[in-house]
Amino acid sequence: MIKPLRKAVLPVAGLGTRFLPATKAIAKEMLPVVDKPLIQYSIEEARAAGIDQFCLITGRGKTAIVEHFDVAYELEAILRQRDKKAELAALRDSQLPPGSIVTVRQQEPMGLGHAVWCARAFIADEPFAVMLPDDLVLSDTPCMKQLADAHAETGGCVVAVTEVPREQTNRYGILDIGADDGRLVEVRGLVEKPKPEVAPSNLSIIGRYVLLPELMEPLARLERGAGNEVQLTDAMARLIGRVPFHGLRYEGRRFDCGDRLGFLEAQIAFGLRRPELAPALRGFLKSYLAESAVPA
Ligand code: G1P
Repeated sequence: MIKPLRKAVLPVAGLGTRFLPATKAIAKEMLPVVDKPLIQYSIEEARAAGIDQFCLITGRGKTAIVEHFDVAYELEAILRQRDKKAELAALRDSQLPPGSIVTVRQQEPMGLGHAVWCARAFIADEPFAVMLPDDLVLSDTPCMKQLADAHAETGGCVVAVTEVPREQTNRYGILDIGADDGRLVEVRGLVEKPKPEVAPSNLSIIGRYVLLPELMEPLARLERGAGNEVQLTDAMARLIGRVPFHGLRYEGRRFDCGDRLGFLEAQIAFGLRRPELAPALRGFLKSYLAESAVPA
């Protein structure tokens, strides 16, 4: 019997060096896209897939993330006093039910695999999602819901995948592909950040996974891989053949918000999805790009 997917692990211990100085004193996961911090997009996406238990893998300087999902008594009291209904409504999705969020400290930056291994007691013997908040997916059906449905179909591990230009394979986990029906791809092998000339395909993993608790066994070896880090991809590769393992070509568009350009693109794309902002933003973009003063 397939156990329901209720748990998500969100690694948030990274230093965010690509966004310095913005991330000197605040967590990169708290950077907003339009008006919501990155981390909240992931949590909302997970909840839309029926996930209701969250484990944040944190490090020093990340306490604001936990505060963000708590009750804000003073703020809410003042807003109520002033009858600020819209503002109170805006806070609603940033408050999680009591007992639904836990944190674990990673202590040392030993890689994504190590971060996920830190959640082993939380995961126990259930399937779980891993979500990297840097990756935002703009889609009609939330990406994690698409993965959860694929997991319910296959009963195995499912990773969200997308084609990347071959010269970029060294930035991602890359699939070696078996049977492919255009949506679900059978995973024959996985390689972390291969050079383009040795990459088995150009199908890359994005930061959305549904994994089985069996993963903890290869992860516990804490073997170092690419970049001398404990890689999630390497531990996943060891499960192939033991459990069903698929890539899902999800519907939607991914923005890499760990990168400055991707972050800017996300601001525009998500802004254009907001009815109250879209017409003015579109007008601004058109006229601004038409101005001869803008350098090409
Ligand atoms: C991590 C994973 C990689 C995956 C990527 C998706 O890499 O190790 O397999 O393709 O996330 O964003 P990172 O971006 O942490 O270097």
